Amino acid sequence: MRRKLAAGNWKMNGTRADLVEIDALIAAHGGATSEVLICPPATLIHAMSGRADARIAVGSQDCHAATSGAHTGDVSADMLADIGASHVITGHSERRADHGEGDADVAAKTRAAWAAGLLAIVCIGETLADRKSGDTLKVVGAQLAGSVPDGATGANTVIAYEPVWAIGTGEVATVAQIAEVHDFIRAELTARFGADVAGAMRILYGGSVKPANAAEVFATSNVDGALVGGASLKASDFGGIIAALDAA
Ligand code: PGA
Repeated sequence: MRRKLAAGNWKMNGTRADLVEIDALIAAHGGATSEVLICPPATLIHAMSGRADARIAVGSQDCHAATSGAHTGDVSADMLADIGASHVITGHSERRADHGEGDADVAAKTRAAWAAGLLAIVCIGETLADRKSGDTLKVVGAQLAGSVPDGATGANTVIAYEPVWAIGTGEVATVAQIAEVHDFIRAELTARFGADVAGAMRILYGGSVKPANAAEVFATSNVDGALVGGASLKASDFGGIIAALDAA
């Protein structure tokens, strides 16, 4: 059985004052049956991990592919592990767009995450132009093949399918669209890694997930949880999503 995962991505939002949201989340959902993860900005990881104990996991939104060296402004996976992170998001579409990261970069970061003992949440997803031209599965398949390194297992890797056009837009993909892509990803993983590994690997949906649409998303084929941006910032919103996941 795959343990469901509710992952929050705070993006470039939050200061120490917002750590009260973590306290509220633990108070309301510290006993969730789903795994709960928050990826705050790097500045808050240490403080959050000290506060969250074992009930809420803390992760990073990115890491560098190298362990150390002359890379001004970057943070390595080992450094993240050192301050209490257990997970790292790699290949988020905003990193791909803002920083020009390609599949090879994402694969290198994912390998670095594994080497530091972190679980990598590898993000893939098509743009609106890709979808309109009928290339969704081609694009998602290519990103999956290029961004997920050999050696991926259910213990070291989670896949997040995030259609770029659904991120932060309020436009959630339909259940049929989500099911088509998640079933495709599971089949691709099975072909490459075998049924045992593919069957243990969680596939999250991301893109405008909210308490109001969470139950429908979580009832969809091969959806093992969500990667949530905007609605993860407030414990009350994210709590509604965790509750829906626990109930699914
Ligand atoms: P959103 O972001 O929930 O605000 O659409 C999702 C993400 O980018 O991970």
